[in-house]
Amino acid sequence: MERVASKAEARRAAADARTEGKTVALVPTMGALHEGHLSLVRAACNRADYVAVSVFVNPTQFGPGEDYDSYPRDLEADLRLLAAEGVDLVFAPSAGVMYEPGASVTVDPGALAECWEGEIRPGHFAGVTTVVTKLLSIVRPDLAYFGEKDYQQLQVVRRLVRDLDLGATVVACPIVRDRDGLALSSRNVRLTADERASALAIPAALEAAAVALASREREARALERAMFERLAGEEHLSLDYAVVVDPDTLEPLDTVDGPARALVAARVGDIHLIDNCALVPHPGHSDRRSTNE
Ligand code: PAJ
Repeated sequence: MERVASKAEARRAAADARTEGKTVALVPTMGALHEGHLSLVRAACNRADYVAVSVFVNPTQFGPGEDYDSYPRDLEADLRLLAAEGVDLVFAPSAGVMYEPGASVTVDPGALAECWEGEIRPGHFAGVTTVVTKLLSIVRPDLAYFGEKDYQQLQVVRRLVRDLDLGATVVACPIVRDRDGLALSSRNVRLTADERASALAIPAALEAAAVALASREREARALERAMFERLAGEEHLSLDYAVVVDPDTLEPLDTVDGPARALVAARVGDIHLIDNCALVPHPGHSDRRSTNE
């Protein structure tokens, strides 16, 4: 496994692999790797001949007062995990290398970034689209791997790659959860035992929405109510949003009569957690009007 810290070395290593006719995959991460990240790495290793992983805590996607300084970092542990997976290249630049002095051009993340996380974390998605554009320009992968855990980010990145013709195929990977149901996140290590117990209300709320849908409730407001009820009164937890949206546009739905996504965000202690799940209506889950049509 080659480990590089400069853009030139990363560009050259990936270009050499391409010249050899290899399919190149990139897995962008901020490090503090866990099984969620490793599931992306494994999916990439299964499909591509050459797998690059970037490890970079991107300052431009953190707002003032957010946890950039306290974000967990452990590059040596990350390198051991990635070597064990058979990764070819780790690109771990410093912030000063990634953003050279005087850098001022950013990538506008567009309309999909205005709602939900974009509203709570102004500027967050512009930081994501800027760094992802830079990473894709440096590595020029055939395949770029992202997790459904950050569902809005995934949709913003898909749009970015399409709208700016960045040339990679975005591959989405399912959410990896701990045994207790909590979606794996690098930030989970900062939860106290009590906070972690409260955080479990988040996957439980998503489950409540799925159960309500399975019992043929298809009004989005009622599904959202099922989530609120599960989250209300939970100690240490302050809800940001729990919504049922169109999986592509992220706009709130009135009725779930096709694929939908439930999105939840909450602050637990001072840690921002997000989670989501697909809502798939039962076959024949249509109302009388559409069955009569
Ligand atoms: P990070 O939070 O490190 O996540 C890197 C990738 O791992 C993202 O695509 C994320 O969705 C995925 N991931 C994280 N937890 C996961 C889980 N439990 N199951 C499945 N996938 C999971 O997301 C970022 O970094 C950054 O915004 C980045 C894209 C690297 C740009 O800086």
